[in-house]
Amino acid sequence: MTGSNTSVNTDHTATDTGSVAFPQDRSCPYHPPTAYQPLRDERPLARVQLYDGRTVWMVTGLAEARALLADPRLSSNRENLAFPSPTARFAGVSRRRTALLGIDDPEHATQRRMLIPSFTLKRTASLRPQIQRTVDELLDRMIEQGPPADLVSAFALPVPSMVICALLGVPYEDHDFFEDQSRKLLRGPETADVEAARDALEDYFVRLIDRKQKERGDGLLDELIERRLNEGTLDHQELVDFATILLVAGHETTANMISLGTFTLLQHPDQLAELRSEAALMPAAVEELLRYLSIADGMLRVALDDIEIDGRTIRADDGVVFSTSIINRDNASYEAPDQLDWHRTNRHHVAFGFGIHQCLGQNLARAEMEIALRSLFDRLPGLRLAVPADEIPFKPGDTLQGMVELPVAW
Ligand code: HEM
Repeated sequence: MTGSNTSVNTDHTATDTGSVAFPQDRSCPYHPPTAYQPLRDERPLARVQLYDGRTVWMVTGLAEARALLADPRLSSNRENLAFPSPTARFAGVSRRRTALLGIDDPEHATQRRMLIPSFTLKRTASLRPQIQRTVDELLDRMIEQGPPADLVSAFALPVPSMVICALLGVPYEDHDFFEDQSRKLLRGPETADVEAARDALEDYFVRLIDRKQKERGDGLLDELIERRLNEGTLDHQELVDFATILLVAGHETTANMISLGTFTLLQHPDQLAELRSEAALMPAAVEELLRYLSIADGMLRVALDDIEIDGRTIRADDGVVFSTSIINRDNASYEAPDQLDWHRTNRHHVAFGFGIHQCLGQNLARAEMEIALRSLFDRLPGLRLAVPADEIPFKPGDTLQGMVELPVAW
């Protein structure tokens, strides 16, 4: 641990688990880090230590996580000096504006209202045929080229990338550029890389919006230009910020779920066989994979006021982290939480968060995962890992969880 560089109140007595560091790498790509094991026994709140020595609360109970994520006394405003940083590179860039995710109500609600109509269940259902076509084309190409293939670059990443490009009206030809910048934005390694990636994406959208203002295209950005920008209810910078968050959140997340979901299914042959024999289980399987994999493993908040919970007090300015991998395996809410089980009745996981920031793209993500996983295992019944499972690289603990590569054969 390095010395503290925050100016906020860290004067709290650490409990036994206060020395557990957060975040940590997983030792298995689909289980919570083994070092978090003691935290699981301490519910609903534990203490963890960040890279800068600061001790913050970690919420570990599902019911309490849902209550706290819906509590307006916990803020997402990264401009608050007491907002916790999970890594040095996040601290370096965290004061920059982030649309939706980085702001509180009422501004947040105003922004969200502008986007909700494009992400409803009905609107997303209308995109299913297009998602299916994208998936089919990518699988055709993979089959034509023959095994082996890297499932991440051949399938898991292009599916959501193509879908979000079509939805926003972003040219997919630019995907090498924005996938690379998104990777740097989320994984650095240094603050300067994250800053540069954010600048590059912003410049890209400034130019794209400029072109679209001269010649209208077909997508959500074009609609927002026509309905909002031109009418003065959205400013140029906000539109650039929307485009950036939607593009990045719209492809990196689902890509990780498809790659890690495939890996996990291949490592659980009984559950995979059951899924193959009963296609109607797919929506339940997607929901269970979301719970089990918890790829967005570390939502952050800062307390604006004292909050009493389970006989303890989260004080104003305290940092709070929500490790979804721990919360979604809460023993008090799930029977045998470490097992992958398509027949669970409790669907109240927090893989998409909860409360006002609950994932805007969740309907889209579910549709993409269902179509991608169903088609992948239908078209390639002999799908298997092309190298031993323990040789396959997966992502470190301080970013979205998923596979770096996934070599497969069939
Ligand atoms: C399986 C894939 C996905 C997962 C696991 C996921 C996870 C999450 C989580 C945990 C949050 C809440 C963060 C917080 O409260 O701090 C969130 C918010 C968000 N997600 Fe997703 N997401 C996924 C896919 C998508 C897609 C496809 C989009 C597409 C457009 C998207 C757009 C957003 C946006 C805009 C927010 C911010 C919402 C707000 O602050 O009001 N996500 N997501």
